[in-house]
Amino acid sequence: MNKKLIISTIISILISLSNVVNGDSFTSSYVRLDPPSTDIPLDSEFFAAPEAYNAPQQVHITQGDYDGKAVIISWVTPYLHGSHTVYYGTTKGKYTSKAKATNTSYSFNVYKSGQIYHCLVDGLEYNTKYYYRIGSGPSNREFWFQTPPEVGPDSPYTFGLIGDLGQTMNSLSTLQHYMKGEGQTVLFVGDLTYADRHIDEAPHEGGLRWDTWGRLVEPSTAYQPWIWTCGNHDIDYFPKLGLLGEFMQFRERYPSPYKASESTSPLWYAIRRGPAHVIVLASYSGFVKYTAQYRWLDNELKKVDRKKTPWLIVIMHVPLYNSNTAHYMEGESMRSVFEQWFVDYKVDVVFAGHVHSYERSHRVSNLKYNISNGACSPVLDESAPFYVTIGDGGNSEGIAGEYISPQPHYSAFREPSFGHAILDIKNKTHAYYYWHRNQDGNKVTADSFVLHNQYWMSELEHTPI
Ligand SMILES: *[C@@H]1O[C@H](CO)[C@@H](O)[C@H](O)[C@H]1NC(C)=O
Ligand SMILES: *[C@@H]1O[C@H](CO)[C@@H](O)[C@H](O)[C@H]1NC(C)=O
Ligand SMILES: *[C@@H]1O[C@H](CO)[C@@H](O)[C@H](O)[C@H]1NC(C)=O
Repeated sequence: MNKKLIISTIISILISLSNVVNGDSFTSSYVRLDPPSTDIPLDSEFFAAPEAYNAPQQVHITQGDYDGKAVIISWVTPYLHGSHTVYYGTTKGKYTSKAKATNTSYSFNVYKSGQIYHCLVDGLEYNTKYYYRIGSGPSNREFWFQTPPEVGPDSPYTFGLIGDLGQTMNSLSTLQHYMKGEGQTVLFVGDLTYADRHIDEAPHEGGLRWDTWGRLVEPSTAYQPWIWTCGNHDIDYFPKLGLLGEFMQFRERYPSPYKASESTSPLWYAIRRGPAHVIVLASYSGFVKYTAQYRWLDNELKKVDRKKTPWLIVIMHVPLYNSNTAHYMEGESMRSVFEQWFVDYKVDVVFAGHVHSYERSHRVSNLKYNISNGACSPVLDESAPFYVTIGDGGNSEGIAGEYISPQPHYSAFREPSFGHAILDIKNKTHAYYYWHRNQDGNKVTADSFVLHNQYWMSELEHTPI
């Protein structure tokens, strides 16, 4: 054991002695010594733009189709006349193919964006490393990404979970921590930049901080897809400045492959990646019966084929189960509409953000709730999904440190800390899940559990061998 390990072992023993355990519920008493929760200054090296004139910056990729054989590559150039072309191939420096980007830009009040480019690169092979080049002449920049295995039950795959990231030293620490691990694709549960918090003090920062954030996360987002979910800080409702609450900046900059899943909005959609069917929901768009999102989800759930994608994962911004006093019960409206489907379709796990702390539930449901029968309490339910709140990326609003006490029985583990999680899918029956505090060494897990696939475990139990 090295010194660091001994110290962290002693600390975790001390912590476990003072943790509060209530039945099968556990509240960690880990106390953070935080860097202040303020945004990194605009002129920081972590936000530095590439030096070459008009070089592409804020490079990020996301899945570009339903099954993982396409990516959308996005970037920004400060001035208009950037190159629209992405050159790519499977050998570094040898680009055998090219694709052309579309470009867009926007302005509001005193802010004017650079040129924003989005390029669909499709027809890729599975399980292949691709190199790509954007920009032209001396402003060239080169990156790479790895396509996922073919959609199918026997391909292991590792997802990262990050939410409510923002742009503080804690955000940076979470990001760097994540990048040291094995995650292959990030499921991002909403609230990217927190630029909206600057609108009143300096309106241009309401735009500028989308640029700084894009540069901050580029070391990860240029090399692996981040699957985007919208959050409340992405809404941008400032009518006096010409921002009308329609996620304008988020949508201009962070596209999604929504048409591939027959969605009519970039804010809700689904992808299949390796062994997983991932459903992205929009907490701040209509979702009650008869709305577009409701009807789309109804249809999408019917398309899920657990023989092809054994793992069914739902991501959204507002948690349906949360025992923190921050945003307490904000998810009740969506829970009352969608929870029955999550149980009926045997969703494995629901990831959400919004609350700036970490929490994991037991398998729990609250389906008996009925406005006239008095039954309104969640019950432990083996046929229900797990719910994980991972809004703990590290943004400028700081930690949500106050929980409902005593810990409700539906809550399994909670800790007021920042971090990220890893979902390591092994095969069609088993996945490992780890939550990492951003203040520990990368190998330290502060919470972990084994997920038994909700569909296949019950299939196997009910199938005589
Ligand atoms: C896209 O780029 C072209 C020049 O290549 C420019 O004329 C046009 O205005 C740009 N479109 C937007 C929406 O910025
Ligand atoms: C709701 O509760 C009432 C009163 O117990 C009962 O008559 C009714 O069938 C219940 N409705 C549903 C949809 O469960
Ligand atoms: C699935 O993975 C788990 C965990 O690694 C392992 O114990 C189990 O034997 C695997 N199942 C099959 C069918 O390989």
